[in-house]
Amino acid sequence: MKILNFGSLNIDYVYAVPHFVAAGETLSSDSRGVFCGGKGLNQSIALAKAGAEVYHAGCIGAEGGFLVDALRGAGVDTRYVKTVSEPCGHAIIQVNVEGNNCIVLYGGANEAITTDYADEVLKDFSAGDWIILQNEINVTPYVAHAAKAKGMTVVLNPSPYNARIEQISLDDVDYVLVNETEGKMMSGGMTSPDDILSGIAARHPGIKTVLTLGGDGSVYCGDGVRVRQGIVPVKVVDTTAAGDTFTGYFIAEMSNGTDAATSLKVAAAAAAIAVSRPGASPSVPTREETDALVRTL
Ligand code: RIB
Repeated sequence: MKILNFGSLNIDYVYAVPHFVAAGETLSSDSRGVFCGGKGLNQSIALAKAGAEVYHAGCIGAEGGFLVDALRGAGVDTRYVKTVSEPCGHAIIQVNVEGNNCIVLYGGANEAITTDYADEVLKDFSAGDWIILQNEINVTPYVAHAAKAKGMTVVLNPSPYNARIEQISLDDVDYVLVNETEGKMMSGGMTSPDDILSGIAARHPGIKTVLTLGGDGSVYCGDGVRVRQGIVPVKVVDTTAAGDTFTGYFIAEMSNGTDAATSLKVAAAAAAIAVSRPGASPSVPTREETDALVRTL
């Protein structure tokens, strides 16, 4: 069983700020860091560090070689990553003193993926393999449908949520990982966690949902069960990529046959370590670090 992550690769420019810049304000930052990022890349690194066999597909510009190096360094197979004429995708990220962020994305090469390239990648995968998708590339609806048609298990993290997500048929999706905002959209406007999960299940019978609740942890709903997991408290430094770390570890566990309760616990521990460190992909913990924290829970 292989896991294909068809997703974004970004250069993250991270600015430490006293508060998020307001309309009309010019704000000096306290520092700037340049990191490997992109929800796709971050999730691939988390999957690989968790121990999964993961292949990353996506596009970079000529300046993106260090993104591929970071994937390789974490153990991700990068044979499918393609260099195109557009510049790399990038993110401008403000991190405030509480460690929270706000992000402006530039899609660049992530938005220049062709369906021919997608078909070329997918021909090497088949029924029994898993695929994980986010919404930072232009062909997510096409790839979800094509992967499902091949019998792959399709995982969707519909982030960032925008009109393109509405083009994806959730009949093509086996697992969806959402925050409360995304869950509200996918459940037809529900707001409480239980109503969001019931709403998604009613609209898409058979789909397995993970709802992340920030400081209130996460809930899994699937196979007729609901499993809850609290957060692991840590001092927050930077929340960037905490969700990606959670997603990568959770899917690595589930695809390996681990039960949902244990998968949520491992994912919560990995995400806790990620928020205690700066940056996106550099904050993703190793398997050993994660297991050591899990043993204390
Ligand atoms: O989820 C965090 C990621 O979102 C960052 O790495 C940034 O690139 C944006 O894609």
